[in-house]
Amino acid sequence: MDVIERIWEKARQNKKRIVLPEGDEPRTVQAAAILRDEGLADPVLLGSEDRIRASAERTGTDISGIAVLDPARSPERSGYAEALYELRKAKGMTPEDAEALSADPMYYGMLMVRQEDADGLVSGAVHTTGDMLRPALQIIKTKPGVSIVSSSFLVNCQRRDLGQDGLMVFADCVVVPCPTAEELAQIAVSSADTARTLCGMEPRVAMLSFSTKGSARHPLADKVRLAGEIARKMAPELKLDGEMQLDTALVKEVGMLKAPGSDVAGRANVLIFPDLQSGNIGYKLVQRIGGAECFAVLQGLARPCNDLSRGCSVSDIVNTAALTAVQAGG
Ligand code: ACO
Repeated sequence: MDVIERIWEKARQNKKRIVLPEGDEPRTVQAAAILRDEGLADPVLLGSEDRIRASAERTGTDISGIAVLDPARSPERSGYAEALYELRKAKGMTPEDAEALSADPMYYGMLMVRQEDADGLVSGAVHTTGDMLRPALQIIKTKPGVSIVSSSFLVNCQRRDLGQDGLMVFADCVVVPCPTAEELAQIAVSSADTARTLCGMEPRVAMLSFSTKGSARHPLADKVRLAGEIARKMAPELKLDGEMQLDTALVKEVGMLKAPGSDVAGRANVLIFPDLQSGNIGYKLVQRIGGAECFAVLQGLARPCNDLSRGCSVSDIVNTAALTAVQAGG
């Protein structure tokens, strides 16, 4: 059974309410119908009811039984506006700003999740990553005990001898542009948690660099080494090693040569990239050249919200909603 089949099965076992703020977007409408038909989640489409129904008609999608909610007309809106004002007043938000923003489906959706009227949110078929992330960071905020939000990609490689039967976790490829050593350590610990909870893996975490165990001396490699030390203090039970080069992390013979005695080198299944440029380029290389399937999730948020690529397909939205439902189910 591949990773997505396992995620679908888990999502079905514990059905969650997933809000889709881009409710009138044609791929989103079609995805909502699949989520309903496959029993993966109870979707909620946000937006103008007329536009959502027109989009369903244009795409030939039956949306009967799917919740459709217009934030601008919702009786919950004023309560959500008050909650938003309380959350953001220290940052200069006025009650008028909060009232206006609560009619925006993205903010309304985040507030539904925050107030536990929905279990999770999926968006990004229309909005950029930054436009989806900012309200998530401001409204949902981080989980207790987690210092920053980041992301993991579940990467399903063609080569089954890599990672766990071809499955690996890459981070951070979406959120934190230039992490400090402390932030990189948090990314490593959060990614190990994602590997355990979403992939059922025993994580072996490699802190990637252009240097292995001091082979190159440079402040960038020193940062990765320090991040490894901090992560080991944060999670002493975790199998984590670095800094190391990618081939040391993945190839048994190279691992034995360059990092003898390591319980990660040569068999890593969680790859922590030193910054967002390398992480984002790295996952796109394995996806576009290596033919790997890649699924992104945000980690470290108090409640699950996930971002889509604007080029996403209907099945990307369905799979991301199923992943979100599994995150919500703990
Ligand atoms: N974790 C937790 N909180 C955070 C984080 C984080 N990683 N980053 C910012 N915040 C908080 C800030 O402290 C701030 O909180 P406050 O307003 O309560 O004080 C709030 O979030 C907003 O922060 P800003 O500084 O206004 O936002 P910023 O401009 O830093 O943007 C963002 C944050 C959107 C995550 C930014 O770092 C970003 O654009 N990242 C890259 C996104 C991207 O384009 N990814 C690549 C494409 S995606 C793909 O290819 C699949």
